[in-house]
Amino acid sequence: MKQPQGPIMRTATGLLHWTDQRLPVISFWNKHLGEYWAPKNFNMWYFFGSLALLVLVNQLLTGIWLTMHYKPDANEAFASVEYIMRDVPWGWLVRYMHSTGASAFFVVVYLHMFRALIYGSYRAPRELIWIFGMLIFLVLMAEAFMGYVLPWGQMSYWGAQVIISLFGAIPVIGEGLTEWIRGDYLVSDATLNRFFALHVVALPLALVALVVLHLAALHEVGSNNPDGVDIKKHKDEKGKPLDGIAFHPYYTVKDLVGVGFFGLIFAFIIFFAPEMGGWFLEHDNFVPANPLVTPEHIKPVWYFTPYYAMLRAIPDKLFGVIVMGAAVVILFFLPWLDRSKVRSIRYKGWISKTMLALFVVSFLILGWLGAQSGSTTQTLMARIFTVFYFAFFLTMPWWSAIDKTKPVPERVTE
Ligand code: HEM
Repeated sequence: MKQPQGPIMRTATGLLHWTDQRLPVISFWNKHLGEYWAPKNFNMWYFFGSLALLVLVNQLLTGIWLTMHYKPDANEAFASVEYIMRDVPWGWLVRYMHSTGASAFFVVVYLHMFRALIYGSYRAPRELIWIFGMLIFLVLMAEAFMGYVLPWGQMSYWGAQVIISLFGAIPVIGEGLTEWIRGDYLVSDATLNRFFALHVVALPLALVALVVLHLAALHEVGSNNPDGVDIKKHKDEKGKPLDGIAFHPYYTVKDLVGVGFFGLIFAFIIFFAPEMGGWFLEHDNFVPANPLVTPEHIKPVWYFTPYYAMLRAIPDKLFGVIVMGAAVVILFFLPWLDRSKVRSIRYKGWISKTMLALFVVSFLILGWLGAQSGSTTQTLMARIFTVFYFAFFLTMPWWSAIDKTKPVPERVTE
C-alpha cells in the first residue's frame, strides 16, 4: 500500500520525476548503486577503492583552497607557503591535509593494487580496469612530482633538477627535450609556472577522467571478489546474481567503516606527525630553493624510492632510466603474464605464494634502499632486488602455468 505523502515529499518526488524525464538520474542511480550487484564476500581489501575516491576528493578540495593563497612565482612561492602555514586562518590544516593526502593517496593506491594482485582482479574480463588503473598510477606519479616542486624548497628544486635531467640520457633528442620541459636552461621560474599549470589543471582533469573510465569499465563487467569466482554464473529468475548484494545500501554502509578508520589515522598523522619524520615532508624542503647549494642527499618522497633505488643501482644513466621506466611499464602487461588456471591466491599453489611474497619483500627493501645514501653494499642489494622484481614478472608465464592449483568453488565461500 502506498504511504500518504506530505507536501514536502510530494514536491521532492515531483521534482525528481520531472528531472528524471529530462536526465536519467534514477536509472543511473540504480545501475551504479541501488541495483549494482556486488559479490557478497567483499573483505577489508575492498575498502581501498572507495578510500582512493575519498582521498582524490580531499586533494581536489584542499588543492583549490591552497591555490587561493599560493603564488606560482620563484621569488614568492616559498614565502607564500609559509604565509599559508602561519597567517591564513586554518591554512596549516589545509596544507597538511594536502601534503599528508599525497602520501595517503599512494598508501591507499598501493594497497588497492596489491588487492588486485592477490585476487587476480586484472585477469580477463577486467584487463581494461587494470589498464585504466595503471594510467591513473602514472598520472598520479606525475601529479605528485610536480606538486612537490611547488613549495620551491631545496628538495623541490633539486628533485626537479635530478628527475628532469634524466630525460637528457635519451640519445639525440635528450638535451633539447630537457630544455623544452624546463622552459629554460636550468630549473627556473618558467619551470615552476608550467608545473603549476599541469599540477592544478591538466593532470587533475586527466585523473578524474581516468577514474570515470576505470569505474565505467568496472561496472560493465562487474567486480571480482576474494574467491575469484564469477557471480554472474548463478542468477535468480529476475537475473540477479545469487551471490550478489546491492552496492547501496550494503557496501556504502560497510565502506563507511573503512572511512572511519582511515579518518582516524589520517587525522592522527595531520595533528601529531604531519612531516612523518621527514618521510612525508622532507627536512630539506623547509629551506628555500638555492640553485648554488646542493643538498647532501637528494632523494624523492617515499612512494618513489623503490624506482629511485633501481635507477641508482645501474651505473649507466640511460640504462638506469630504461630499467626504472620498465619497472612501471611491465605492470601494464600483468593480465597477459599470469597464466594460472585460477584467479585468487586462495586457490593458487605454493610457487605463486612464494613468488608473490618475494616480490613484496623486494619492493619494500628497494623502497628502503632508495631513501638511503647508496653505499657499496646498498647498491649491491639494490641490484639483487631489482633482479627479483623483474624476475617476478618475466618468469610469471612459466611458474603461474605449472603451479598446482586447488579446485575453485562454484559459489562464493563466505
Ligand atoms: C585515483 C585512483 C583510483 C581510484 C579512485 C580507484 C577506484 C576504484 C574503485 C571505487 C573500485 C571499486 C571498489 C574496489 O574494488 O575496491 C576499483 C576497482 C579496481 N581498481 Fe581502482 N582506483 C584507483 C586506482 C587504481 C590503480 C592504480 C589500479 C591498478 C593499477 C586499480 C585497479 C583496480 C582493479 C583491478 C579493480 C577491480 C577490483 C575487483 O573487482 O576485484 N585502481 N577502483
